[in-house]
Amino acid sequence: MRLLVTGGCGFIGSAFVHMAIDRGAEVVNLDKLTYAGDPANVADVADHPAYSFLHADIADAASVRDAVEGADAVVNFAAESHVDRSILDPAEFIRTDVLGTAVLLEAAREAGVDRFVQVSTDEVYGSITSGAFRETDPINPSSPYSASKAGGELQALAWHRTYGLDVVVTRGSNTFGPRQYPEKLIPLFVTNALDEIALPVYGDGMQVRDWIYVDDHCEGIWTAMADGEAGQIYNLGGGYEAPNIEITRRILDLTGRDEGLIKHVQDRPGHDRRYALDTTRLRALGWEPARDFPGALAETVRWYVARREWWEPIKSGEYRAYYERQYADRIADS
Ligand code: NAD
Ligand code: DAU
Repeated sequence: MRLLVTGGCGFIGSAFVHMAIDRGAEVVNLDKLTYAGDPANVADVADHPAYSFLHADIADAASVRDAVEGADAVVNFAAESHVDRSILDPAEFIRTDVLGTAVLLEAAREAGVDRFVQVSTDEVYGSITSGAFRETDPINPSSPYSASKAGGELQALAWHRTYGLDVVVTRGSNTFGPRQYPEKLIPLFVTNALDEIALPVYGDGMQVRDWIYVDDHCEGIWTAMADGEAGQIYNLGGGYEAPNIEITRRILDLTGRDEGLIKHVQDRPGHDRRYALDTTRLRALGWEPARDFPGALAETVRWYVARREWWEPIKSGEYRAYYERQYADRIADS
């Protein structure tokens, strides 16, 4: 099987590239190498005969047309993925997550690929007070990020209905594990704790997320790719629901730091209070998460402890300007 994987130098995409190569697939990894994409994330497969890399933008029709030629399936991870950055600068999110997805869909249609997997997010549903979202529920995104992801998946489903392209959409929940860019809650708080600097908890920290380990997320995407029904959407959640303050305390415990590092800061605008997914549909295909949250979190923390050479250069580069913009006033005002 020949796969075109986009965004394979990012956090989840790189884990999926490893999984696909291990399973005997041929992989073309197309990645723009934005601030979040790092070829080091796939360095150990870079010389594998079944792997090739194309430095390109999913919104660039000519590059995408070449890349998709001969692919059996396209798995689209490429996206601007961080909610806080989308609030600061929404334009790039619309360009990549909506327009880029449409360009990729069109190339896949022209090339006649057998399957297009659109990697989407549970954030398209918006917030839920009780119970869990099902795939038939209406979407109601809150942030420029989740609205642009909703735009991308709506394009994908339209390409199925209008042109008959074989599309499946996965809506994954909050993912964690090795190689996650340290702007997201878990790697940010683990690395700040290791450096003994403030952990900026938004608002009261009682916002609830449904956590999934990265390999379980990739396994779910693989299942949807292999066995999903064309035109269908699959919720993909780990089922471990916890408020952010609980995650924060676990991280402090695992890093041996004390609660004095917690800083409650000004909340994220439009912050969704709770996400929860009903995953019955994907489980019916035989998928279930394999990892328990406390064990997988402990292993993830050990990875960041052991791999300072991975995250320290990130945190001293472009990241510093972003961090100042996002957090300086929040922390000063707290
Ligand atoms: P990430 O930010 O770590 O990686 C994104 C990758 O896409 C990077 O390698 C980047 O260089 C690449 N990219 C960005 N714009 C591109 C473009 N225009 N053309 C080609 N490549 C481009 O993201 P992630 O956390 O690994 O998320 C991957 C996908 O999964 C995204 O679509 C995201 O919306 C979705 N998702 C993420 C989570 C999560 O918790 N991280 C949960 C559910 C769904
Ligand atoms: O739900 C799936 C989504 O999960 C993915 O689609 C996104 O790509 C991914 O970034 C993630 O979005 P969140 O906004 O939920 O993740 P983030 O790690 O940014 O934040 C998790 C929670 O922690 C959220 O309630 C906001 C809070 N938070 C986050 C940061 C970065 C803080 O309290 N302080 C922080 O500094």
